[in-house]
Amino acid sequence: MTSVPDIRIAPSILSADFATLGNEVSAIDAAGADYIHIDVMDGHFVPNITIGPSVVKALRPHSKKIFDVHLMVSPVDLFIEDFANAGSDIITVHAEAGAHTHRTLQSIKALGKKAGLALNPATPVDILENVIDMLDLVLIMTVNPGFGGQSFIPLLDKIIAARDIINTVEHPVDLQVDGGITPETAKLAIGAGANVLVAGTAVFKDGPDGYAKNIQLLRGEQ
Ligand code: DX5
Ligand code: ZN
Repeated sequence: MTSVPDIRIAPSILSADFATLGNEVSAIDAAGADYIHIDVMDGHFVPNITIGPSVVKALRPHSKKIFDVHLMVSPVDLFIEDFANAGSDIITVHAEAGAHTHRTLQSIKALGKKAGLALNPATPVDILENVIDMLDLVLIMTVNPGFGGQSFIPLLDKIIAARDIINTVEHPVDLQVDGGITPETAKLAIGAGANVLVAGTAVFKDGPDGYAKNIQLLRGEQ
């Protein structure tokens, strides 16, 4: 078995069975997920509605793994504390979600949580430069957010540029890619410098019996 070191897999529970979400979180934990990626959509910033802090809180006892909460919410500041108290470990907000990204990141850090910044496909990567000191995670969206099951947009130069910016600081910063990740596109993203792969469809598509195998495939294991 060959493996790629230091690659972390973050299954997106957006593709899980919402009728039994606690069991789904336990199942991906047991199947080898590194992070539990939780997509929060508000019906305003993106044209879909998913889950709120009470669901995150209800899921928390189902896994000790990192809860990686991706907020597709605008305005977002009002909700940061609720998601922090619900048991989030990483809180990622969108650069496009408000005028005061720096303040939002400050509030996440003040609550003792790791802070992530997500960039939509059309958002220039240099927006990272003035906030990289505050970030624990950079999320490059490789689909337009709102839905699972979309095709990967090959923004490889952007992932490379984000890695270059991350390499200007001493502290560890995850470079996460989200949208259309399959074993094939995972290789492209890793080659460009990503170290955390979000995947919904590619993990959940075969039902619980396939979770462990599908996570291994995303890691590059045979
Ligand atoms: C999209 C979400 C993604 C999505 C990924 O707005 O942020 O996390 O669930 O789904 P797949 O892997 O199916 O593209
Ligand atoms: Zn996501």
